[in-house]
Amino acid sequence: MNVTLLFFSPTGNTHKVSRMIEQKLVEKKVNVQFIDLTNNLELFPKRNFKKFLEQNIEEHDLLCIGGPVYAERMHYNILDVIKNLPKSRNGWSKIASVFVTYGGVSSGIALQDAAKYLRKKKRVLVAGMKIDSAHSFNSFLSTKINEEKPNNEVLPIINDFCERFAYLRKTYHDEIRDVSKSFTYLPLKKRIITKIFFNERFIHNTIYPKIKFDSKKCQKCDICISQCPVQCIEMGKDSPKIKKGGSSCIHCGVCAEVCPQNAITFNIQKFEGFLKKWSSETGSHYRNEGVRSAVYPLKEFKK
Ligand SMILES: Cc1cc2nc3c(=O)[nH]c(=O)nc-3n(C[C@H](O)[C@H](O)[C@H](O)COP(=O)(O)O)c2cc1C
Repeated sequence: MNVTLLFFSPTGNTHKVSRMIEQKLVEKKVNVQFIDLTNNLELFPKRNFKKFLEQNIEEHDLLCIGGPVYAERMHYNILDVIKNLPKSRNGWSKIASVFVTYGGVSSGIALQDAAKYLRKKKRVLVAGMKIDSAHSFNSFLSTKINEEKPNNEVLPIINDFCERFAYLRKTYHDEIRDVSKSFTYLPLKKRIITKIFFNERFIHNTIYPKIKFDSKKCQKCDICISQCPVQCIEMGKDSPKIKKGGSSCIHCGVCAEVCPQNAITFNIQKFEGFLKKWSSETGSHYRNEGVRSAVYPLKEFKK
C-alpha cells in the first residue's frame, strides 16, 4: 500500500500531525510519500499548482491531504491544491482521506470544504479527521489557546484515522463508498452562517490586521523572507514589504514571530477577547464541535 501525504502547515501543527500519521502508517507497513507544501519554492510565490502536483505526486493507492482551518474554512491554499489536482489515472488512486488542525475556536466547515472539491475531482473519501491544536496566534496572545497541542494524546485518534485506510485492498476500491456526508457535523444554522459570512480570502483582505515592517528596527537579515510559508515577502529599499502579485499574505504571523529585531508587528491582540470567548469550553463555537478531535464517520473501525 502506498500513501501520498500532502499538507500545508504555516505554523507547524499540521506538519506535526502529518509526521504522526506517517509514523502510524509506517508501523502498518504502508509506504508514505511525504510532501510538505509549506514554503515550497517550486510552488510559492508563483502558485503553479497543477505543474507541481503532476511532477511530484508518485503512484499511490490513497491520497491523504491536510491543512489548517483559517476563518472556519479549509485554508485556501489547500483548496487550490485540490482544485488543481490532476484526474486519478493509472497508478493514481481515486481514494482519498483528509484532515485538518484547528486552533480550538471552531473547525467550521473545513472538512466539508475539502471533501466538496475532492468529490468534484472524482475522489472517494474514506475518512476525515480534525485535530484540536495550538492556535497560530498564541505568540501574540497573553492567554494561550491549547498550548502544547497537538501532543501524544491524539495518537489513538490518528491511529484510528490510519486504520480506516491502511489495510484497503486495491481489488475493493470500486466497492468503497464515500463517507464525506459525515463531515457535516455542525448544526445547520451554523453551517449556513459560516458558508455565507466566512469567505477566507475576503476576511484576509478586510478583517485581519496588516503586517507592518519598521524600517528603523529592520537589519535586513532576510529571515522573514526565507521563513514566510508562502514566499510573499521581498526586501524593499529600507525594509521588507509584501510582494505584489503571486501569493498574498495569509496572516499566519510567522514573519513577526521570527524577526530577531521585533521589527514586524502583527496587531492581532485586538481580537484576543473574541478568541478567548469563542475558544473557552463553554463558548458557543467550541460547543458546536461535539468532540474536539475526532475521526469521521464517528464509528468504531471494523476490519
Ligand atoms: C489567519 C488565521 C485564521 C485562523 N482561523 C481559525 C478558526 O477559524 N478556527 C480555529 O479554531 N483556528 C483558527 N486558526 C488557528 C489554526 O487553525 C490552528 O492554529 C492550526 O492548527 C494551524 O495549523 P499550522 O500550525 O499547521 O499552520 C487560524 C489561524 C490563522 C493564522
